[in-house]
Amino acid sequence: MAKPEKGLVVRNVSRHFKGVTAVGGVSLVLSPGETLALVGPNGAGKSTLIQMITGVERVSSGHIFLNGRRIDRLPPERIARLGIGRSFQTSRVFPAMSVWDSVMLGTQARLLSNGPGKMMTGTAHEVLAILFDTAGWRRRVERQEQVAREALQLFGDRLWPSKDQPAFSLSYANRRRLEIARVLAGQPDFVLLDEPAAGMNPTETQELTSLLLALRQRRPELGILVVEHKLSLVRRVADRVIVLNQGQVLAQGDPAHALDNPDVVEAYLGRERRRPTSSDAHLG
Ligand SMILES: Nc1ncnc2c1ncn2[C@@H]1O[C@H](COP(=O)(O)OP(=O)(O)OP(=O)(O)O)[C@@H](O)[C@H]1O
Ligand SMILES: [Mg+2]
Repeated sequence: MAKPEKGLVVRNVSRHFKGVTAVGGVSLVLSPGETLALVGPNGAGKSTLIQMITGVERVSSGHIFLNGRRIDRLPPERIARLGIGRSFQTSRVFPAMSVWDSVMLGTQARLLSNGPGKMMTGTAHEVLAILFDTAGWRRRVERQEQVAREALQLFGDRLWPSKDQPAFSLSYANRRRLEIARVLAGQPDFVLLDEPAAGMNPTETQELTSLLLALRQRRPELGILVVEHKLSLVRRVADRVIVLNQGQVLAQGDPAHALDNPDVVEAYLGRERRRPTSSDAHLG
């Protein structure tokens, strides 16, 4: 038998919503250590693809595999526990929770819910561990604190000085950073970022670009799928780009090849191209 393909494999996946084909037969592979950018105009099906990979939306047809294991029938929490983390297109931080607690919660992503039966046992075990302050429990908390600290410090002094403040007191850009820190604190093997730079100004976008490059260095095995309209970021961080249009793959390849493909330029960038300085062309 052939060896299962390492990584995240999307094979001929479609999703229909009442007559609308949001995604129509898309295949892609995201390997460990690779950064893949998914671009395309509004409504191309990018977020729907992420929703299907993370189990929030069911596939209408096709299959999704993680390291050879089929995951397209699993619920979202199981998929998270298998090592796929994701951020949302609109920030989903808990407003009243402190920055530190939000990231500590993120460290639980792979520990929460071992399935309905095991969950009770896990919880009971945890309560006993807390009550008796076991060495194992303390070691685990210390480890989680270290992971949370690293996730926050990845953002320099953007989040760390605010770690005891409630998330609602953060600026918009910092809430988006917190969302990413929370996902990374779950120590996923693959991370799916849905428009992480949306609403960020050019300086903040530049900073996020540097952060993603630093993250690649620090976590060389992490596979990153980034959906992004800001092409300056895509060109700098992505090993490969897939351009989606009306639910289908229009072009793919290295950033220069995929983004400068005449079909892509004609269909999406033509309008922007006429402006000489539009490195952040919005594909829409
Ligand atoms: N739950 C849903 N019910 C009905 N239609 C949906 C649903 N989710 C997405 N769609 C439709 O599927 C298509 C793809 O939407 P999707 O959100 O995946 O696009 P996108 O590429 O993420 O766009 P954007 O760049 O604007 O975020 C759109 O036509 C959208 O209206
Ligand atoms: Mg979207």
